[in-house]
Amino acid sequence: MLYKNLNINEAGHLTFAGNDTTALAQEYGTPLMLLDEIAIRERCREYKNAMEDAFPEGSMPLYASKALSFKRIYEIMAEEKMGIDVVSSGELRTAVKAGFPMENAYFHGNAKTDEDIRFAMENGIGYFVCDNADEMEAIDREAEKRGIRQKILLRLSPGIDPHTHAKISTGKIDCKFGAVIENGQAERLILQALSCKNIDLRGYHCHIGSQIFDHAPFCEAAVMMLTFLAQIKEKHGFCAPVLNLGGGMGVPYTKDEPAIDYAENIRKIGVLVWDTCKELNIPVPVILMEPGRSIVADSGMTLYTVSSTKEIPGFKNYVSVDGGMTDNPRYTLYEAPYTVLSASRTAESADYPCTLAGRCCESGDLIQENVKLPAPKRGDLVAVLTTGAYNYAMASNYNRIPRPPIVMIGENGPYTAVRRETLDDLLEYDI
Ligand code: LLP
Repeated sequence: MLYKNLNINEAGHLTFAGNDTTALAQEYGTPLMLLDEIAIRERCREYKNAMEDAFPEGSMPLYASKALSFKRIYEIMAEEKMGIDVVSSGELRTAVKAGFPMENAYFHGNAKTDEDIRFAMENGIGYFVCDNADEMEAIDREAEKRGIRQKILLRLSPGIDPHTHAKISTGKIDCKFGAVIENGQAERLILQALSCKNIDLRGYHCHIGSQIFDHAPFCEAAVMMLTFLAQIKEKHGFCAPVLNLGGGMGVPYTKDEPAIDYAENIRKIGVLVWDTCKELNIPVPVILMEPGRSIVADSGMTLYTVSSTKEIPGFKNYVSVDGGMTDNPRYTLYEAPYTVLSASRTAESADYPCTLAGRCCESGDLIQENVKLPAPKRGDLVAVLTTGAYNYAMASNYNRIPRPPIVMIGENGPYTAVRRETLDDLLEYDI
């Protein structure tokens, strides 16, 4: 929900999760990444309860931590009894440092190195989501060395186009992730897994895309995966006990995008899964899902201070702020929509059309175009909503700009979860 934790106080300042944003900016500086911890926990519970109701025992959401990875978030996920998906030794190391129970961690990726595999096993990773035959051999070798049987899921590519729902054949085959079902590659990978004595194949995984608003593509993927699961049972006698349907449920960034009822979507997928398994005469597998964006995006907000304004008559007005593509590269990369509000002058009418620009020496460094604010001046505070996912996670030090801090608003008020990078931090690796 776009405006769920926003309000305006008597001073005319925007409040976020009950806190005056101007006061937060004064205390912590800008750019400032804020996260509403209570809202994150509520969303975890919404997923968890809905999945427990809709699917067999053991079914659970795994937080896709590529959306936003830092120590505190893994502590919260552990407390909420969520699983996690990690995609690198870096995410894994952060989760280990947070004391996350590794048996509920799933290691993804299409290019895991031997060192990744060794490091993950050393830390007791629950599952690898194995992407290809080379990786499987490497997992088998490392597991043999350690005298263990490593649990894995196989990443399969069911070939669903989440935007059109059409089964476009190049889309089915041309993807760097997973083994293609259609051309027999997936079946060969399953037979390879079943023949590896140090590998315990537990099931299949698919992920059809991100920022999907409709539940229909998930249903389509579930039916395809269950049908394939039944075919493999019939042909080879292996009935996979686990099916991971990946992440991808959307989040509205502007009021033009629909709000999503995650619990209701899960309920609908649940009904279909039970019906399909009945038809196929297979036991209903444990279902896993991997929400990333929909766990953290709308719990986040970024505050910036206006540095300058520039009017180009006949063209447009630029309002430049003290952050940009270094803390939020999503407009630069995807022309992603965002809602931008004044945080310090909410009482005034927002009738000044402008482009919100970042501070990097790069003309494409824009945060949003076609924004309306109260005619801004240097020192004004501007809020960009819904920045919890794939902002900090994709931040960089381009132009040697330090990353902002992450300040969480918890039950007892605001606290720093990740401190602001300093200029000296930027020199940390220079010899
Ligand atoms: N599982 C797998 C295997 C994934 O690849 C992803 C996202 C997820 C789960 C989580 O998907 P979500 O629920 O967050 O949609 N940087 C892009 C998004 C890339 C998503 C990559 N994979 C963006 O900023 O929009």
